[in-house]
Amino acid sequence: MTVIDGKATAATIRAELAVRAAAFEEKSGKKAGLAVVLIGNDPASQIYVRNKIRACEEAGIRSFAHFLPENTPQKDALALIKALAADESIHGILVQLPLPRHLDAKELLAAIPAEKDVDGFSAEDIGKLAKNEGGTVACTPLGVMELLRRYRISVAGKRAVVVGRSNIVGRPMAMLLLNADATVTICHSKTSDLKEICREADILVAAVGKPKFITGDMVKEGAVVIDVGMDRDENGKLCGDVDFEGASAHASFLTPVPGGVGPMTIAMLLQNTVEAAERTLS
Ligand code: GUN
Repeated sequence: MTVIDGKATAATIRAELAVRAAAFEEKSGKKAGLAVVLIGNDPASQIYVRNKIRACEEAGIRSFAHFLPENTPQKDALALIKALAADESIHGILVQLPLPRHLDAKELLAAIPAEKDVDGFSAEDIGKLAKNEGGTVACTPLGVMELLRRYRISVAGKRAVVVGRSNIVGRPMAMLLLNADATVTICHSKTSDLKEICREADILVAAVGKPKFITGDMVKEGAVVIDVGMDRDENGKLCGDVDFEGASAHASFLTPVPGGVGPMTIAMLLQNTVEAAERTLS
């Protein structure tokens, strides 16, 4: 069984992106720029956003961090996003989710122009993904595909099962696997026979947000198991959606938590930012 090293893979990609970011700066006379907006006090989001900002700086991407209080009114958040959209030194805009409940996330995300949407959440990008016509793709599922590619794990013709149907991970993940010619099943909280379906998977992607939800008996012999979860176990320790010990008895490849998919999400955010910057030159 191979433990997929997302941390090392992400470090390689980040070094490659630093070269591209430097080339962009050389050509354009300015750094690629990413604006990151965090509204509220969600502790996990604060860690993610800090990591994103640090990764930008290390890759030679300028970051514009905006931390707004929990009670920020809709109109203030909207005004900030519109100002970032109009700012030519900013090539990508990321609004960290989840947003406080009183805010209308749909309206705020719609204010990000598609060319600056480094999350690939825009209707335009989702439409392109659904039609297999390229476009910017959400960072986490894109990171999963990049891990499969760099570990030379073939997807075409494989049976892929995605557990979870979120807009951020499950849905775009299923679409990417389909575009790579897998036979894809999406499971969710209302799925009956979940265990039996998971046991058919050559590639099993867990994105449910429940600690150790995928147990060893749900993993087919030789399956590739990708754990997108970032959960806490009963002792408050960071863990994934997959019971690592149980799954490792059956899987051929397995991603750990931490150090699997998480670092790839950040690497893909940098990639989407550099590509958004490069597009302004053509
Ligand atoms: N919250 C958790 N993952 C993500 C992500 O990929 N993008 C944004 N904007 N928010 C998130």
